[in-house]
Amino acid sequence: MPVDVILGLQWGDEGKGKLVDAIAPNYDVIARFQGGANAGHTLVIHGQKHVLHLLPSGIFHKNCKNLIGNGVVLDPVILHKEIHHLLNHDNTLTQRLYVSKKATLILPTHKFLDKVQEDSKKDKKIGSTLKGISPAYQDKIARLTLKVGDILKVNFQEKYLEIKNYHLNLCKIYPTDLQYDVEFEKDFWESIEYLKSLQLIESEIWINEILQNGGKVLAEGAQGSMLDIDFGSYPFVTSSNTTIGGVCTGLGVPPSSIQDVLGVFKAYCTRVGSGPFPTENFGDIGNLIREKGKEFGATTGRPRRVGWLDIPALRYACMINGVTRLAMMKSDVLNCIENVKVCTHYQTKHGEISDYSTDYENIQPIYAELKGWHNYDFSSLQVPETLNQYITQIENWLQIPIKIISIGPDRNQTIYQ
Ligand code: IMP
Repeated sequence: MPVDVILGLQWGDEGKGKLVDAIAPNYDVIARFQGGANAGHTLVIHGQKHVLHLLPSGIFHKNCKNLIGNGVVLDPVILHKEIHHLLNHDNTLTQRLYVSKKATLILPTHKFLDKVQEDSKKDKKIGSTLKGISPAYQDKIARLTLKVGDILKVNFQEKYLEIKNYHLNLCKIYPTDLQYDVEFEKDFWESIEYLKSLQLIESEIWINEILQNGGKVLAEGAQGSMLDIDFGSYPFVTSSNTTIGGVCTGLGVPPSSIQDVLGVFKAYCTRVGSGPFPTENFGDIGNLIREKGKEFGATTGRPRRVGWLDIPALRYACMINGVTRLAMMKSDVLNCIENVKVCTHYQTKHGEISDYSTDYENIQPIYAELKGWHNYDFSSLQVPETLNQYITQIENWLQIPIKIISIGPDRNQTIYQ
């Protein structure tokens, strides 16, 4: 049976969590394949809000197994807290949670290094979430860090000390006043003990067996395609492959098993942290959308930068990922404005182009203006005509059908076309 994929097409925060939760009952396994606790997937279930950082977004469904795959960088302290918090809501949750022994562990010194490295960038900061993501992936590639499976080995503590000392020495090359606080380690060691009690597995074998036995897997992406380490606006990116290739390397499933690729985008754009954002709106409309859409980071609380939908960038993300269907999120938010703009092309020194360009300094967005659905009340769960026109235009520009329209944060505020 196939692997379906759900991933973000913009700069993250597209609303993937809500969607995974909504369609999870169709699957046997929901699997996170990359990223770490830099993600913040917000789910609203019967009016109650939950923000998941590491747990896959199918965790609330009793018939779904949930996997944290080998491509994830796992902060045991955050995972422990997240589970502890949710156990009040459902004390059977860990029975359906599985963690890959090959997932990379985030150590307290990774988080410290993240701060030190980001601090040293002065005015060139990436805007990292400071969750230790980049240093953990750096160490994974450098082949010198610890994996989840290592916590079961007798030399774990010895190896940990070796890496910690290496990190503290490394920090000395950065000009910083930050001091490492050994207090962080108390929580770390408690969480390592807790991690041992979870179902730690050879997940690539486990997931392939499930597929061979007819099971259906949904791979859940974190962040967005434009933050991909290879295809995003480098260096203002995260440190993993957020795009389709990350599914195979982050879960150990073959490319031939991938079937449906559901690309998720918001009816407008947002970005947190630094980096180019051609359609950014600095004016009142941007502020209005930010407030209406509650565009403040789920992980860091930072206000998100807001702008119009960027079709060339979206088309690029669809191309990289081989998107088969689209889901448009937060369509209701744009009812706070009268007319809606969409960037269809870029103006360059050499004329108009319709392809995505990384020559950010020399491109200007060209917009189409469409009549909005100002003040429309979505409580009837109906799509107004002007929103239908917006959807049809986007489908024409991208040549991919929009099959899901989200009109509010709750599971039930979702229209399937
Ligand atoms: P890092 O992944 O914490 O190293 O952050 C690198 C960049 O990716 C920064 O600009 C972050 O704001 C951005 N980023 C990381 N995770 C997310 C996310 O889940 N949503 C949106 N932006 C993110």
